[in-house]
Amino acid sequence: MNSRSNGSQVAVVTGGGRGIGRGIVLELAASGFSMVVNYRRDAEAARDCCRQAEALGAPRALPIQADVADLDDGRRLAVEILDAFGRIDVWVNNAGVAPESRVDLLDTTPESWDRVTSMNLRGPFFLTQTVARRMIDLAERGIVAQPLIIFITSISSDTASVERGEYCAAKAGLSMVAQLFAVRLAAHGVHVHEVRPGVIETDMTRPVHDAYSARIAAGLSPIRRWGTPADVGKAVAALASGAFPFSTGQVLNVDGGLNLRRL
Ligand SMILES: NC(=O)c1ccc[n+]([C@@H]2O[C@H](COP(=O)([O-])OP(=O)(O)OC[C@H]3O[C@@H](n4cnc5c(N)ncnc54)[C@H](OP(=O)(O)O)[C@@H]3O)[C@@H](O)[C@H]2O)c1
Repeated sequence: MNSRSNGSQVAVVTGGGRGIGRGIVLELAASGFSMVVNYRRDAEAARDCCRQAEALGAPRALPIQADVADLDDGRRLAVEILDAFGRIDVWVNNAGVAPESRVDLLDTTPESWDRVTSMNLRGPFFLTQTVARRMIDLAERGIVAQPLIIFITSISSDTASVERGEYCAAKAGLSMVAQLFAVRLAAHGVHVHEVRPGVIETDMTRPVHDAYSARIAAGLSPIRRWGTPADVGKAVAALASGAFPFSTGQVLNVDGGLNLRRL
């Protein structure tokens, strides 16, 4: 158990049943947090993740269905968590989608733009607004000492991929959202950080697996391997450990050095 979690602290991961979200859930569970695993469709993955989380040390792990792009669902999610646990210590905005197909920037459709930005930017913004209000209240009442919000953005926040421009634009926007909430919430004792994964092996990257494996072998990132959900989970668990009490609004790259300029 880490220094922050005393066994009663509660962490929430949106889209926590599969992929990077599951990696985050399992690392936080191993640190002793009780877990809420939000999912949209895959209930069995979320239930299985909760079983694993409890086996790893979470006092309790609860799956809750909600679509983060639906603002009413987001408000219901927060209410259900507080009804079940009475507190939220760590909130991880992880849920996100890739475009259904990669197309040239000149052919990006309004439908794909709306789908990707509503799930990856608009939804997390308003969900965080809801959560932030709750966290301010929990901090003022002395129930949670230092609430934390983490945004899972992407290398795509500042790396242009012209065949999925709507994803890059949404992630760039989400990086600013993280900064905005960091500034706005600091005076209330709520800290906010951004974790920026590089190329991580999940269902999302399955369609480009072979192409990316070749690029990684050729040196795409200085550390020549795929990232794993556990790599991202360990970074989130470190931020949630309470080891950075005088930091907020920071960006932690988990990308094998992909962001580094090279000559
Ligand atoms: N994989 C990468 O290389 C990579 C790199 C950088 C950043 N990221 C970001 O990391 C996050 C997770 O990606 P991943 O690779 O783990 O993706 P993934 O394997 O496709 O899993 C996506 C997860 O998000 C959930 N989800 C999707 N839309 C949702 C919604 N509207 N409401 C609630 N949950 C929703 C899914 O829930 P269900 O299981 O119920 O469908 C699933 O648990 C995303 O924000 C992604 O943009 C990924």
